Amino acid sequence: MNAPHVEEFLTLQEIVEAARRKLPPGPWSYLVGGAETETTVRRNRQALDSIAFRPRVLRDVSRIDSRAAFCGRPARLPRLVAPFGGLESLAEGGAAAAARAAAQFGVPQMLSSVCKPGLEETAAAAETTRFFQLYVRGDDAWTDDFVRRARDHGYSAFCLTVDVAMYSRRERDLIGRFIKPWRATAGDGAAFQSGLSWKQVKRYKDKFPDFPLIIKGIATAEDARMALEHGVDVIYVSNHGGRQLDHGLGSVAALPEVLKEAGGKVPVWVDGGFMRGTDVVKAIALGAKAVGIGRLCGLGLAAGGPAGLVRALELLEDEVRIALGLLGVTSFAELTPQHLATAAPATEPGVFSAFPHLREP
Ligand SMILES: Cc1cc2nc3c(=O)[nH]c(=O)nc-3n(C[C@H](O)[C@H](O)[C@H](O)COP(=O)(O)O)c2cc1C
Repeated sequence: MNAPHVEEFLTLQEIVEAARRKLPPGPWSYLVGGAETETTVRRNRQALDSIAFRPRVLRDVSRIDSRAAFCGRPARLPRLVAPFGGLESLAEGGAAAAARAAAQFGVPQMLSSVCKPGLEETAAAAETTRFFQLYVRGDDAWTDDFVRRARDHGYSAFCLTVDVAMYSRRERDLIGRFIKPWRATAGDGAAFQSGLSWKQVKRYKDKFPDFPLIIKGIATAEDARMALEHGVDVIYVSNHGGRQLDHGLGSVAALPEVLKEAGGKVPVWVDGGFMRGTDVVKAIALGAKAVGIGRLCGLGLAAGGPAGLVRALELLEDEVRIALGLLGVTSFAELTPQHLATAAPATEPGVFSAFPHLREP
């Protein structure tokens, strides 16, 4: 069967199925897998599925505005393309293809330092709001070089991912003997990442006070407080999509304590298991300012290159707008925790449990 033209994807599940057909087993397991027992992966979905909606009716929702802003810059949805190493193993053009899709649709991209092409080429590929995320694999001078290059190439903020003090055991990759080319050639440098502490955050803020700093991988109120004390500009709640510490809380379950601690002083972003429009609406109703897409972005790119990712974002947007309207609000700003209730999940959680009609290819 020929692959469908991307406009023929009418549901997100069709995008997942097309990606599955296109990707060889190694990149597929790298994309979808998590750490060890993948309990954190499942909890990401379980936590989202444990939130139900309390809709309001008869509120004139004939005009819905689902736009958002990131660091003062407008976006078509409160979503960002989360940082993603090895995008080049999923689609031709790698990070540049993702940049083109983000620009075409109108959401920001966060580029990972372990992704090809590098920060200069990706910046040149498309005009969009972009952030740069670094895995620290060198000394202070090495880090500062990335900060300056990101700043000089129009990135709006710098991100340190801090939930990777140790590289986890990704058992799907181990069992499949999948050796990621970018890890095989990246050299070691892992000791720099394990050696990170709040001292480096302080050093960054002292040295680059005008280049906003995002800390990705916060999962507790205690660390949210540390981030505030160190002048961090955005707190990004994440468990790396369940790919690092196994047996963590679902991301959206950790979100309320972080939001409470942040107290509106800085924006809080979140990712982990967000696959559907309703998922985004839940996080924003809790108080997050934006949601990152990880796997779904990779699936869209694998399914149809930049056009596949744009199509995934369009379908998400459609779902978001329907959810907002059915909740009786016309914009994200009107959402409150009053629109939410806790409920027992109706689905067995899993990396693809948001897609109940998935036909295993
Ligand atoms: C294949 C893959 C590669 C990733 N690479 C990075 C990375 O280089 N840097 C980073 O901060 N996070 C990375 N992440 C984590 C994502 O940024 C994000 O936190 C996670 O995917 C969100 O969960 P989701 O995939 O369920 O949406 C990666 C995730 C995946 C699936």
